Formats: sequence, C-alpha cells, structure tokens
Amino acid sequence: MSRLIVVSNRVSAPTDPAAGSAGGLAMALSAALRKYDGLWFGWSGETIDSFTGEMKVEDRAGVTVGLVDLEPQDVEEYYNGYANKTLWPLFHHRIDLAQYERSYGEGYERVNRRFAEVLAPVIKPDDVIWIHDYHMIPMARDLRRLGVRNRIGFFLHTPWPTRQLLVTLPHHRRLVESMFDFDLIGFHTREWCDLFTDYVVSEAQGELFGHGGLECFGRRVQTGVFPIGIDVDGFLAAKNSTLGTRTYDRMAASAAFRAMIVGVDRLDYSKGLEERLLGYEQFLQDNPSMRGEVFLLQVTPISRDDVDSYQDMRARLDALAGRVNGAFADMDWQPIRYLNRTYRRDQLAGIYRAARVGLVTPLRDGMNLVAKEYVAAQNPDDPGVLILSRFAGAAEQMREALLVNPYSREELSDAIQKALTMPLAERVRRWEALMQVVRDTDVGIWRDAFVKALLAVETEPEKTQWA
Ligand code: G6P
Repeated sequence: MSRLIVVSNRVSAPTDPAAGSAGGLAMALSAALRKYDGLWFGWSGETIDSFTGEMKVEDRAGVTVGLVDLEPQDVEEYYNGYANKTLWPLFHHRIDLAQYERSYGEGYERVNRRFAEVLAPVIKPDDVIWIHDYHMIPMARDLRRLGVRNRIGFFLHTPWPTRQLLVTLPHHRRLVESMFDFDLIGFHTREWCDLFTDYVVSEAQGELFGHGGLECFGRRVQTGVFPIGIDVDGFLAAKNSTLGTRTYDRMAASAAFRAMIVGVDRLDYSKGLEERLLGYEQFLQDNPSMRGEVFLLQVTPISRDDVDSYQDMRARLDALAGRVNGAFADMDWQPIRYLNRTYRRDQLAGIYRAARVGLVTPLRDGMNLVAKEYVAAQNPDDPGVLILSRFAGAAEQMREALLVNPYSREELSDAIQKALTMPLAERVRRWEALMQVVRDTDVGIWRDAFVKALLAVETEPEKTQWA
C-alpha cells in the first residue's frame, strides 16, 4: 500500500490538534491520518459560480488535504438536500422529516460523480481508498466507471435504517446496489450491520457467504463491525494541558459546590435535546430538594442551519430552555445554562472533568464520541457518571453506563437522581470498566482494524467491470 486516501464531505483537519471542537468524525479522521502517508479529500466548504474541478492541496498539521469547491446548486441539492433532508432523517428513523425531491437525488449523483472525476487522476496503483459517510455512498461506482481498480472501503458513521423504513426512499435499490462497488463496508455496531444485511437478503434477494460476505446484484462485498473511538492519548493530553486544567478549575469555581450535569451535542433532532430538557425538568419536579444544588450545562453549537427542520428545532429548544429557567430559577441559581457555541477540545476536556454527570441521550446515533470523551476526562479516584441512551451505537459497548430510554422523562429523571447519589465505590467500578472500553476502541485501533480488513478482502474481477 502506498498511501491511504480518505474521502469525506467535511474535511476539517484542525491546524492545531488541541483546538478541534466537539468530537465527531472529523477529529477521528484527522487523528487517523496523521499516522499514515496519505491524502484527505473532500468539499472545501466553499462555493464557486461554476465548477472547475480543481483540487486545492494544503498541509494542515501534518495532514495533506485536497479540497474542491462546489456550485451553490450542488450545496443546495447534494448537502442541504439529499444528504441532510433525505438520508440523514431517514437513517435516524425520522421519515416524518425526510424530503424526497428528485432534484436532490440528481444533485447527489452529480456531486459524487464530480468528486470521483477530481480524485481519479491522482490515485496511484497501490493507494487504498477509504470513503466515509452517507454523503458519498455512490462514489465507488463512479470511481469504478473511471477505471479505478484500487481497493475501496466505505464506512458509515450513522445508523443504518430498518428495511421497513429504507424502502420509503425512492430508488433505494439503486443506492444499495452502488455500495456493491466497494470492497468492504464498515459499520459501528452489529445492529447497523445486521440491518444492512437484512435489506440485502430480504429486499434484494442477496445471499450471505463466509464471515460477513454478501452476494447480490451479481457482485460481492464484505461487511464488518468496527466501533470507532477517540484518540485517547491526544484527549488525555488535552485534558492535562494548561488550558484543560484552567478550564476545569474555572468550571469548578463557577459551579460553587453545585453538581454539574453536562451535555454536548450539535443542534440536531437526532440528539434528543428536547426530550433531555423535559427529562431534566421532570427531575427538578420530582426532587425539590435538589433545586439549587444542581445545574445542567448544555453546549449545543448550531448545525445545518439552512435546513428548515433544524431552524424549527432551534426555536423550540430556545423556548423550552427559557421556560424551564423561567419556571425554576432563583435569584442566585439558574437550572440550565444553554449555550450555542463551540469549545476547543482542551476546554471541553476540562468541562467534562468538572461534571458530576455526563448526559448523552440521543434518540438514535451511529456511535457518539461525546460518551467516550466524557469517560476519558474523569478523575480516576472520583469519577462522574455517564447516562447513555440505549439508542446510541456506543451503548452496544458501554454497558456500565446508566443506560436509559431517552423517550421516557421519568426514566431520565430517575437516572439523573441515581447518578447524583451513586456511592463512590460504584462510580469507580463503572468508570474503570467504561475506561477500558474507551481504550479498547481507540481511534488508532479502529483505523488499523479497518485498513487491515480492507487489505485482506479477496477482490473480485467484477469490481472493475466498468473499466
Ligand atoms: C455527523 C456525520 C458527519 C458530519 C457531522 C457534522 O457526525 O456523521 O459526517 O460531518 O455530523 O455535520 P455537518 O453537516 O456539519 O458536516
């Protein structure tokens, strides 16, 4: 293998690794690539009046990135449209929010073709290509049509939907068929992988072979489960840095002996934010003696604000946070600190460390790395408690968290109460088990396992039939 070429829609390798904000895919990929000689290719985030197909190459903290500008219509149809109004809600079980517009599908295919046309000429024979997430599902098909014979892997960072929901997508079969131009398809959990297999077998009459092999549409693809994690050493360094420690001290002082509960999530309906605030409100109602003794710091950067469902949700959250504060606050106490901003990774580490409870309650989530960061940030001799939704991919591994159903406010209220009163010995026992999971799923282990599996796939001649 000469190079690893990583492809994702968002390329956000930070210039300073400690400066990266709220978790997620981009931080993981940047940590993964720093160890390989490679290229990270994707959208620049910029628009240009007329597509040129020019790749701008930059060095960012030791990672070479290749960026392409898109036309405004591309961004509207491909990113805001098909990726964020069609696939994202569908993959997160919100078909009530999914919009199926033909122009979105056309824009999606056009942009994937454009990405393939820009990337194909720079691919060398020994390069291994690793494409990420729902923005890029058909890109292997487009690369194959251009004669690319290299190994191409795909990783989905979101859940895969159930077959019953996926069939509501017009042309669902075409989308899944295009995935058979990859050599390997990876998911975070056994659950998402099994749902993909179920579609292929039950809807498309495919067949299983070997360990995770699928044969369908006259082709074969390998599937596998590769749970992503955080860059543990990098995160611990951020936590122990000057700014990490200062932020911790500042938060502790600001908490003034009150117990802090923390939530950190992009503003997204999949994160269960309204349900979380309602669960916290329930907790305040159920436990009058805890009022004034606890507060929730909810850090929620605005996200995908050109999409109407995100704007609607933003307004609802503003109202809800305001209502709870108005109803419960006292002259020297506010129950919710609700912030629409981002923090550097070292600051976040300090914030997590100062929090008695980490509240991670998505309604559906591919993995959720905030859960892992919260655990990694804790003081080993006096750790906080992680409350985790059973519908986050992370729940498949993090069994020692307090697992909750985020749709139930009573359950959330009970879990908060239990977390705040949990004896030290139980907190330490649970934290040690969780920290082991965080270490076992380090992002480096994830990357190496996927690349190794991709190199081990027996490739088939049909993959290059387009050439
Ligand atoms: C999720 C997706 C990523 C995406 C991120 C931020 O984690 O899996 O692919 O980059 O959200 O969303 P954005 O639309 O801002 O890139």
